[in-house]
Amino acid sequence: MSGRTLDAKLPIGVIASHGGTNLQAIIDACTDGSLDARIRVVISNNSRALALERARRANIPTAHLSAVTHPDPASLDAAIADTLASHGVELVALAGYMRKLGPETLSRYRNRILNIHPALLPKYGGRGMYGEHVHSAVLAAGERVSGVSVHLVDEEYDRGPVIAQAEVPVMPEDTPDTLATRVLEQEHILYPRTIQRIASGEIDLDSLA
Ligand code: GRF
Repeated sequence: MSGRTLDAKLPIGVIASHGGTNLQAIIDACTDGSLDARIRVVISNNSRALALERARRANIPTAHLSAVTHPDPASLDAAIADTLASHGVELVALAGYMRKLGPETLSRYRNRILNIHPALLPKYGGRGMYGEHVHSAVLAAGERVSGVSVHLVDEEYDRGPVIAQAEVPVMPEDTPDTLATRVLEQEHILYPRTIQRIASGEIDLDSLA
């Protein structure tokens, strides 16, 4: 982001609920040098998330923060914001995080939280539009093209400004599963690439919101 020295790596935090294949794509891009970022912490609401295991394998600090560890929503919100801040995180990437962030995290990281969504927003987004539901709706509508969106996160699901998109063809024989697989491949390319465009200063998040 602007103001960074050329050799400084953008400190990012990733929050994920499940498998973490997008997390893995970001880890791999940091390792192969195509992304000038360093993941400082991975947070999950799910202590058994494969995402946490992927982080541990890459020697990235992890935190399990959920309604189990923090039954009070405000204290969970504060714990998430504090964990990100204490690891020096400047940019947050949601990668399959199945919860809403609270007001404290949203305000402390305003315009600094990204999400990836497996469709071309503003279509097929919002409450209940996740996983197979998205791809089933795309197929039911007879779309010829679907895709991937990276967007800024605000108080509502999938509503913040879109930063980057990639189109994916829908095939006549597609099932939700086959479409999901084709879309996910593009997610793994678009997410690290978009974070790199932010890290390099090519995308100025403050000009979007
Ligand atoms: C992805 O399809 C992403 O678009 C959505 O959740 C899924 C996460 O997959 N927000 P993974 O955990 O990164 O494999």
